[in-house]
Amino acid sequence: MVNEIDIPKISQSHLFGIKNLEIDDIKKILDLANFFKSKNKEKNKNYPLLKGRTIINLFFEPSTRTLISFEIAAKRLGADVINVNIERSSLRKGESLHDTAQTLGAMNPDLVVVRHGTNDASKQIAQIVKCPVINAGEGINEHPTQALLDAYTIINHNKKLEDLIVAICGDLEHSRVARSNYYLLDKMKSKVRFVYPEYFKPKDLHKYNVETFNNLKDGIANADIVMMLRIQNERISELNLPSTQDYFNQFGLTYEKLKSAKSDALVLHPGPINRNVEIEDRLADDIDKSVINEQVENGVAVRMSCLSIMVQ
Ligand code: NCD
Repeated sequence: MVNEIDIPKISQSHLFGIKNLEIDDIKKILDLANFFKSKNKEKNKNYPLLKGRTIINLFFEPSTRTLISFEIAAKRLGADVINVNIERSSLRKGESLHDTAQTLGAMNPDLVVVRHGTNDASKQIAQIVKCPVINAGEGINEHPTQALLDAYTIINHNKKLEDLIVAICGDLEHSRVARSNYYLLDKMKSKVRFVYPEYFKPKDLHKYNVETFNNLKDGIANADIVMMLRIQNERISELNLPSTQDYFNQFGLTYEKLKSAKSDALVLHPGPINRNVEIEDRLADDIDKSVINEQVENGVAVRMSCLSIMVQ
């Protein structure tokens, strides 16, 4: 294969989060994604930069789009990909995260992608395996590749991140997507708003340089980007939540409420969507407003970019 493009280096050897990335790192990842996005439109989508390399996807939580996206990205780059099936692994026999990581590390992977319910799982694994680790969503901490693909999607609509008003709306307390997006957008000088009902107020709110709102219509007023979040039921134990109908009435995004945002505002959602809970059914599918499918498409290119930069 003739290399058509130089793969840049970034300041980090693992992708734990956006918080410790430099602005330059983010720009390099997003720039390279352009190259893979156009490759992904060709009939032959293979670009075997990682031929002979082994990538392990270690997902301890359910996932459809993120797992498939990482798998497709790695395969298009020619890597050998192993998805660890937790249901059939020794974790079901009581093996610890430490021992699982040690076992996988002994098989000499070139990169491990990890999703886990604990806030520092990717760092724990990186201390054991001798290769780069990418966090594919951990606890309520970070989900860096989601924020990168969200930023990529926004930029692709000819919007400059600087000075953009971005309203992140819904279950802020339990969302790693919100935290990674905050770090990225704040570094890029966007104006970030957190819009949430009181019961989803983030406990670590003091850490963020954001305007806050408790009313959706006010929170998205004049916004360029409206980013909706799923209610993370799997991370909620003690809260007394309203019925899904009441939540939709108060906090669901509808055509009517969206009128308060800019007329060309983009609607994002990381998926999976709960239709008519976080977002009105028809609006989710309206390609003049919603870029949810573009987020999924761009996710593959952005992850190809991350994988080829991290495995060098
Ligand atoms: C997100 C996640 O798992 O954090 N989903 C995703 O990766 N596309 C958000 C969610 O599950 O709501």
